[in-house]
Amino acid sequence: MTSEAQPVEHARAPIAQALSDLLEQVRGEDHGGAVADYIPELAKADPNLFGIAASTVFGRTYATGDTTHEFTIQSISKAFVYALVVDEHGIDDVRSHVGVEPSGAPFNAISFDSAGRPMNPMINLGAITATSLLGQGGADERFDSIRLGLSRFAGRGLQLDEAVYRSEASTGDRNHALGSLSRAEGMLRGAVDDVVDAYFRQCSVLVNVTDLAVMASTLAAGGVNPVTGDRVVGDEAARHTLSVMSSSGMYDRSGDWMVDVGMPAKSGVGGGIVAITPGKFGIGVFSPPLDAVGNSARGVAALKHLAHEFGFHPF
Ligand code: DON
Repeated sequence: MTSEAQPVEHARAPIAQALSDLLEQVRGEDHGGAVADYIPELAKADPNLFGIAASTVFGRTYATGDTTHEFTIQSISKAFVYALVVDEHGIDDVRSHVGVEPSGAPFNAISFDSAGRPMNPMINLGAITATSLLGQGGADERFDSIRLGLSRFAGRGLQLDEAVYRSEASTGDRNHALGSLSRAEGMLRGAVDDVVDAYFRQCSVLVNVTDLAVMASTLAAGGVNPVTGDRVVGDEAARHTLSVMSSSGMYDRSGDWMVDVGMPAKSGVGGGIVAITPGKFGIGVFSPPLDAVGNSARGVAALKHLAHEFGFHPF
């Protein structure tokens, strides 16, 4: 797969103009937030970067702002890896290892249900466990299948940010601990070190905001990448993923999110968020300063505007 970006429409089209007006409006508001610094390499992000992209299920992509700047996908990868895992194993097998209940807890919490399953695949505990179910072998083999899957969602070959990966790996004791706890509960498959290493690399995959929109539109289109025509996952895997994103994608703000925005979504500490209007659009937003729970502050604001002024709130 090439690393060529897909053609994007910028100005002129009414949707592109509306996105660009929205970006300027949100940029002019004060949403506060702070760039993530718990992984040293992430602290270097420029807080002024801001981009918004939307991709239709018919394969047209509109983007505005910092549309080609690459950043690490971080926790947004959890949604797409979950889709790949459900596609590979079926929901029943996956669900016997990772639950689908919102945890109401922060992304790095120790959060098991009464059956010993991680509460859901959107928190680190559940995501690391989901990663363990995809493919097998050492960290390299595991990451190869993750990178290929994420690249098919994006429609181009995605690369790894080595510096962020090394930074994650050298500060990732808590994630190793979460992996060990999941293995002790009989949920994580394989060797903890290999799985957690693959998870660190999964989080360190580079995307731009346009990639996020195309990835999201693949879920919106039931698992077919609308730009490349590639069926990345089955319809059922896409549907289950959207359900879990709806209930748990925005961490301990997931309930507020459903009221305020309503779209299934997933955020990452790199400053990206994906959101989906099923059957219509995939949306990507990117702005590094994060709010108190780790969601992009400007990204949340932009999606609230899209939910209400653009009528994207599904309820
Ligand atoms: O596990 C971690 O610490 C990160 N690599 C990913 C966390 C993340 O993006 C949480 N999101 N908001």
